[in-house]
Amino acid sequence: MKTYNIALLAGDGTGKEVTDEAVKILKSISEKYNTDFNFEPALIGGCAYDKYKNPLPDNTIDLAKKSDAVLLGAVGDWKYDNLPAQVRPEKALLGIRKELNLFANLRPAIVYPELTDLSPLKAEIVSDTDIMIIRELTGDVYFGTPKGIEKKNNELFGYNNMCYFESEIRRIAQVAFKVAMQRNKKVCSVDKANVLDVSRLWRDIVKETSLEYPQVELTNMYVDNAAMQIIRNPRQFDVILTGNIFGDILSDEASILSGSLGMLPSASLSDSKLALYEPIHGSAPDLKGKNVVNPIATILSAAMMLKYSFNMDKEHDDIVNSVRKTLKDGFRTQDIFQNGMKLVSTTEMGNQIKNNILKLSE
Ligand code: IPM
Ligand code: MG
Repeated sequence: MKTYNIALLAGDGTGKEVTDEAVKILKSISEKYNTDFNFEPALIGGCAYDKYKNPLPDNTIDLAKKSDAVLLGAVGDWKYDNLPAQVRPEKALLGIRKELNLFANLRPAIVYPELTDLSPLKAEIVSDTDIMIIRELTGDVYFGTPKGIEKKNNELFGYNNMCYFESEIRRIAQVAFKVAMQRNKKVCSVDKANVLDVSRLWRDIVKETSLEYPQVELTNMYVDNAAMQIIRNPRQFDVILTGNIFGDILSDEASILSGSLGMLPSASLSDSKLALYEPIHGSAPDLKGKNVVNPIATILSAAMMLKYSFNMDKEHDDIVNSVRKTLKDGFRTQDIFQNGMKLVSTTEMGNQIKNNILKLSE
């Protein structure tokens, strides 16, 4: 029996509550399919700062590097809001992405039929939406240099650099086309090529890469139009491919389609086999210790781990189907609660999903 080593970075706030439920689910998968998951915890974010004065300590990076996959909860708490930028919890997120070379961020935005009414948008617009946003994660204006704030012409001047090497564009485009081949074979590349040079290069390299995937239909869209189209007609999209900052903004926007941030998982992949999985929501420090947050985003992130890191498609589908069954049976955490449904806690939601996994036939 192979043992898979998973680095468990619960982080701050409600991070531990949601990763605990994902671990519960992975343990039920190992029970059912006779696989072995070994979890090694380490600190990241504010809790790491408290102990080491560093939100991303070396021992956390070392553990992540020697593991088969990383499961992360969330980082951040108000009590760290006044720390200098270099040691803020968010810095740990950017740091681990760069250290592990996690350049490909996959953010699915799926509207579950049971939750269609939760979206602030009309059900007829959002129903059946199934978009995969593929966001470049280690380049762009997030990491570009030169950057800074300095005195210029007798006033302060702040600047960052939006930049991409063609190799960075090519490798993320490859990921998008490969993922599209497993889906509806459509890629919409989002840029601002009418204004930005870096976007013109982006568009050229994506086009060039698309020639290797003749079955995939490639379209291009300016980011402002994409922001509008995502809420006007989300079903037109299959895979959206975009850079770091446009992807940051559009993935938050797309999350609204599904009604709750508490439902959305993510995967961040590298060139090597190492990958990191995390919910896209934050640490919700105000809800910490109350056993009320929705663990589904983290449970679905664990499902993505099985699919993308361990090639366990059947086990992945088991988790997704169990989540769907649990929603169909009317179980809801407070963020997705509607009249007539059964309100459950974080741990009860995990238990229901676990029971469904054990009940579903192999
Ligand atoms: C995200 C977050 C991060 C980002 C922040 C917390 C640094 O918004 O993962 O989308 O901007 O990438
Ligand atoms: Mg974001």
